[in-house]
Amino acid sequence: MNRDASGQRDGTGTGSGGSASGGAGHGEVLVSVDAVYKHFPIKQGIVFKKEIGRVHAVDGVDLEVRRGETLGIVGESGCGKSTLARCITGLHQVTAGRILFEGDDITRLGKAGLKAFRRDVQMIFQDPYGSLNPRRRVGSIIGDPFAVHSIAGGAERKRRVQELMELVGLNPEHYNRFPAEFSGGQRQRIGVARALALKPKLIVCDEPVSALDVSIQAQVINLLKDLQDELGLTYVFIAHDLSVVRYVSDRVAVMYLGKVGEAAEAETLYVRPRHPYTAALLSAASIADPDEAERAERIVLTGDVPSPIDPPSGCRFHPRCPKAADRCIREDPPLVPREGDPPDHVTACHFPVEPGERLAHKHAAIAQVSTQPELPEAEE
Ligand SMILES: Nc1ncnc2c1ncn2[C@@H]1O[C@H](COP(=O)(O)OP(=O)(O)OP(=O)(O)O)[C@@H](O)[C@H]1O
Ligand code: SF4
Ligand SMILES: [Mg+2]
Repeated sequence: MNRDASGQRDGTGTGSGGSASGGAGHGEVLVSVDAVYKHFPIKQGIVFKKEIGRVHAVDGVDLEVRRGETLGIVGESGCGKSTLARCITGLHQVTAGRILFEGDDITRLGKAGLKAFRRDVQMIFQDPYGSLNPRRRVGSIIGDPFAVHSIAGGAERKRRVQELMELVGLNPEHYNRFPAEFSGGQRQRIGVARALALKPKLIVCDEPVSALDVSIQAQVINLLKDLQDELGLTYVFIAHDLSVVRYVSDRVAVMYLGKVGEAAEAETLYVRPRHPYTAALLSAASIADPDEAERAERIVLTGDVPSPIDPPSGCRFHPRCPKAADRCIREDPPLVPREGDPPDHVTACHFPVEPGERLAHKHAAIAQVSTQPELPEAEE
């Protein structure tokens, strides 16, 4: 369902199946993001602050997360991944749209409802050091959620915290140490233990390993996977590193300038990307096998990422897309399954990449005077 930022349907619609929905083999829908917008006003003036524009950080996102799965979210810096994560966890109020968690709209929860929701949904952040207060002992940091929700005190709290430390591979005897006395990987384990304290149903991991050494990254990722198996957790996993996302995710959604461009089961998306942006991202990712790297063609995107203050018309990828045609400037493509794709593989593109199609040397077919409405359309 497409609506504009005021929450009205815009008439273009994403059609049937138009959301980055959860994959087969997992449980019912846990989170449903329904036409969500998050705009940040830009204000000018000293006394009378006047709104002079808006950052369209999240601009009409539909997606679903199913119980027990990991939904990976990828996309270039500034495309709105963290903003979306903050909307899902209730840290940002949405500008428009709904977010259903177990069927309840969290954008309309009262104080009590919000408190209960905050027990069920936790976040793990990129910077393990920045998200831990350096002047507090690790035991009290991990025990914070118990204090906030008035659960367990004194010796019982200490016992539970030490249990959590053991669960994430920390020595429970280090309960009284300060964050600075731990390595980067251990600090992220502290963040994981804190997130697990209240037995959440959903954990949103925002670049949880980006700040860690590669060798440590694998340990933390494997810890998260083991915990998921053991505790039946559901993850939304945001990362820049496409190979990390492929490894952890059941499904992947690709974001571009505040919107989802493509979403599919992880293997399908990596093997058969349909959106030219996904294909470009994958072609730019490092390939471990030297033979494959030699064969692979790198799709070089022209131009910078446009400003989210004034996103391009139609398909917002059109100024950089090697397949762009005039229709792309006029019409925002809906996020729907494309011909030949399974229902859970959705792509927002008028001219999806065909198997074997080479984009590296393609040039956009946008006419010079692209504002003329009667310009010929490229064939679908
Ligand atoms: N509080 C805010 N006020 C104004 N603009 C914001 C705010 N938070 C984010 N933005 C803007 O919203 C856009 C999306 O930012 P966001 O942090 O969600 O991107 P991201 O995909 O997480 O990027 P990165 O990969 O670098 O973490 C950016 O243009 C950013 O500058
Ligand atoms: S709709 Fe057009 S501009 Fe957008 S990704 Fe597809 S081909 Fe490229
Ligand atoms: Mg971010």
